[in-house]
Amino acid sequence: MAEENNNKQAAASKPSSAGKPKPPAAKSSAPGKAKPSAAKSGAPAKPVPAKESSVKKGVYKPAEVRAEADPFKDSKTGAVGSWFQERFNVLVPVIDYMKKKEVPQHRLSFWYYFGGLTLFFFAIQIITGLLLLLYYRPTEAEAFARFVYIQTEVPFGWLIRQIHAWSANLMVLMAFIHMFSTFFMKAYRKPRELMWVSGFVLLVLTLGFGFTGYLLPWNELAYFATQIGTEVPKVAPGGEFIVKLLRGGEEVGGETLTRMFAMHVVLLPGLVMLVLSAHLMLVQVLGASVPIGYKEAGLVKGYEKFFPNFLAKDGIGWLIGFGLLIYLAVMFPWEIGVKADPLAAAPDGIKPEWYFWAQFQLLKDLKFEGGELLAIVIFTIGALVWILVPFMDKQASREERSPLFTLLGLLVLAFMLIGTYRVYLDYGW
Ligand code: HEM
Repeated sequence: MAEENNNKQAAASKPSSAGKPKPPAAKSSAPGKAKPSAAKSGAPAKPVPAKESSVKKGVYKPAEVRAEADPFKDSKTGAVGSWFQERFNVLVPVIDYMKKKEVPQHRLSFWYYFGGLTLFFFAIQIITGLLLLLYYRPTEAEAFARFVYIQTEVPFGWLIRQIHAWSANLMVLMAFIHMFSTFFMKAYRKPRELMWVSGFVLLVLTLGFGFTGYLLPWNELAYFATQIGTEVPKVAPGGEFIVKLLRGGEEVGGETLTRMFAMHVVLLPGLVMLVLSAHLMLVQVLGASVPIGYKEAGLVKGYEKFFPNFLAKDGIGWLIGFGLLIYLAVMFPWEIGVKADPLAAAPDGIKPEWYFWAQFQLLKDLKFEGGELLAIVIFTIGALVWILVPFMDKQASREERSPLFTLLGLLVLAFMLIGTYRVYLDYGW
């Protein structure tokens, strides 16, 4: 449907030639060959220079063949718009595209908001993370004290810290909702395979943010949870190396804190920026998909302009998300706990963050000889199958319903919800 939409748009942007006499040699369109230009008022067609004809389509144009006319001449952007257009030759096509971009309207359109919400909470993370960085120090001696300082002394430091902690949770939640909604709408089907793959990588990176950020306050709970978390790969082949790489030594210590910090503020943001750019670029190129069979059943009510209509609704969603975020940050603050003591015995009830609970429960269920290795094998195969779904679900790619894959999605969702609920029953929140 999006393709049809794109075609519709492409057709709309082409100058209409209906009713005009066709130039006699209009068929010759070999690249590099001189093309006759559209005949105006019956005048003989002038041949276009080879270079111009080869770059006629597409965004890039060498300086000497760029349009002379100022496209902003009559617009309110005036001189500023012209200044940028002259430097970024892609400005006009981008604005043109934004004006034409449309979003399909149907009874499941609601789920289109969750990608944008994930993006919104990610933006909050960048801003609040930067502010926290102004005061935080990633050393064994100072980390905990700096958290106490941010929380008690820095003006609004408590609010920024609470927003960062809550927004992290909401971002993960939104990413999960977004993943399952795109899964059940089969939005991963051809030609959107890479949207799914890049999205899955983004989810892994987002979980990586949660895992590496957890240790930064250097409190007891985080210390022992990281001890357990970083031990998981140990039983896998080559696992000893991964454990050492993560910990910077045999045990969790100051070196681990430095590594987690480096990953949290440099490596992961860099990777997310790269993959997110690809993900969002694909969203622009391919547009939003429509659930299978909706078009044929007449369930698509129409198309809504992305700018300003859909974006305004996105904005309403972000405002609601922001309201919820502030409410949670103020009413349910995260505790700092007590400073980590590597020599102390692990306290009872150590558990990871809620988004790892399902995997944690599976590890607990497989507490027998070789159970941990089995769990790692299950996670690895499971992740591989999940990421390759778009390539396996051939039916969906042919625009046919694929109930087996819907069942797979339901099983994965049930595994996550039941595992999470069982940890909640055993340990509480
Ligand atoms: C940091 C995390 C992510 C961000 C910021 C993000 C952002 C977005 C945005 C803004 C859209 C367009 C609007 C929409 O359809 O919701 C989108 C579409 C999409 N995303 Fe994500 N996404 C993320 C993670 C994921 C994950 C985890 C998956 C799945 C594994 C995924 C798969 C998709 C797919 C398949 C689409 C196309 C939807 C359609 O065509 O209807 N994304 N994403």
